[in-house]
Amino acid sequence: MADRKVYTDYFFDEPAFNTHDGGYVPLKEPDTPQEKLKIPALLKPDKETDTDMYYTVIAQTGETQLLPGAKTKTWGYNASILGQTIVFKDGKNIHITLKNELPELTTFHWHGLNVPGPITDGGCHAPVYPGESTQINFKCNQVAATLWLHAHPCPATAQHVWKGLATTVIVQDQTESQLPFPRNYGVNDIPLVLQDRNFHENNQLDYMADYDPDGIQGPTPMINGTINPYFDVTTQRLRLRILDGANRREWRLHFSDDLKFTQIASDGGVLPEPIDFTHLMLTCAERAEIIVDFRGYKPGDEVTLYSDDVPLVRFRIHQFAKDDTTLPDHLVDIPDPDITPNTKIHQVVMAGMDEEVEINSKKFDMQRIDDKQKVGSVEYWDVSNTNDKTGGMIHPYHMHATQFRIVSRNGHEPYPNEHGLKDTVGVNPGETVRLKVWFDKLGVFMNHCHILEHEDGGMMAQFEVYDPDHPKTYKLMDMDTLMTAFAKERGVKKEELNIPGMHM
Ligand code: C2O
Ligand code: CU
Ligand code: CU
Repeated sequence: MADRKVYTDYFFDEPAFNTHDGGYVPLKEPDTPQEKLKIPALLKPDKETDTDMYYTVIAQTGETQLLPGAKTKTWGYNASILGQTIVFKDGKNIHITLKNELPELTTFHWHGLNVPGPITDGGCHAPVYPGESTQINFKCNQVAATLWLHAHPCPATAQHVWKGLATTVIVQDQTESQLPFPRNYGVNDIPLVLQDRNFHENNQLDYMADYDPDGIQGPTPMINGTINPYFDVTTQRLRLRILDGANRREWRLHFSDDLKFTQIASDGGVLPEPIDFTHLMLTCAERAEIIVDFRGYKPGDEVTLYSDDVPLVRFRIHQFAKDDTTLPDHLVDIPDPDITPNTKIHQVVMAGMDEEVEINSKKFDMQRIDDKQKVGSVEYWDVSNTNDKTGGMIHPYHMHATQFRIVSRNGHEPYPNEHGLKDTVGVNPGETVRLKVWFDKLGVFMNHCHILEHEDGGMMAQFEVYDPDHPKTYKLMDMDTLMTAFAKERGVKKEELNIPGMHM
């Protein structure tokens, strides 16, 4: 373990960092008192048997004490903001009642989960109207990973997530449970949802006031729905399941003293081998599980996690038992199926910024299927970002219904932490990233830039995973139906709706 290489680089193209963006909103250290980091409760199953798990997930309105003074009006899943953490066990049949107690329609998208589409997957074709509930059933069939649930009612996804509709989902399996990782939830295994917000009068959010077609940002870091958090460290090793849950912001993470940390998992599960870093960049929707080892610190010390030079979380060191656990050089085997002969190379070209964003020269259309892939077939997808290298931005590209492998970046090796399973990949300006993609569930699914305003603004496409022996037709949602419903729910005329992406 001692002689693993330590990477000190963010990788990515520095000129494309969001800091150079005209509309960039720098983070500011909050001047409010430090608060204990909120650790979301684990959502209690309604019932669990040897084979089945039953849950009720409620999208609800609430008020959250984020800043001193007035509470902030927020939305969440079984909580006033963000949500409780949901655990699925590989191999079990999962039954979830999805309840919408919001004043307007929403959807429940399981980002990274291997489930059929478009309804179970929960993209824009699966609205749950206010006061209603619906049930989804699926078999959990994938390796241990940190995934997430977020709202996806195109083109109001960004508004719903900004209000708080995002929460961590943990898949557990046999293999991961044997690895020497911390896994005492809330003690040495914690989710860390990184977001940023801007607060207006009376501590309220105002999405439209802060709207930016390249992605809304706020100066205040919000971690697990906590402003200016600290965490009490009581174990030598701490596992952080970090999610970039921001609408737009990239996080350039590092600790005080350039403390080394070890990445053990990426979006889709455990990495083939642990990777040591001092610096790590996450783009929107990406996850990284890391283990931080505080062996060099003593009670009373504080270790700070920063993004650039702004503190995000202060880790207050307390007494801990000595822990000599070392990680094996090899953690898990990652599937690497051969490309199916005579299949095409799919092309996804992300172009534009602001309102001009497109994929393959088109804006998203819920009724149009842009690409197809046979279930079980393994194919290359070449994903490019045509923004120019200096004036452009990184587009975090996401595909539903798969955990893919990154084959290359402009023909070169992917980054050292990109050899595991991924569902989101930051694509630099002028770059083509080659992915190896396979699906084992049928349906219509979305692929898009995960800057939520780009997604809502049309940098999104759809594909069908099909089985030629059992052709299916899907009833797809249309924009007019959704806009009519939103208008009715918000008590305004359709033309008066404040949903920026609706005019695309
Ligand atoms: Cu995080 Cu279309 O999804
Ligand atoms: Cu997704
Ligand atoms: Cu984008």
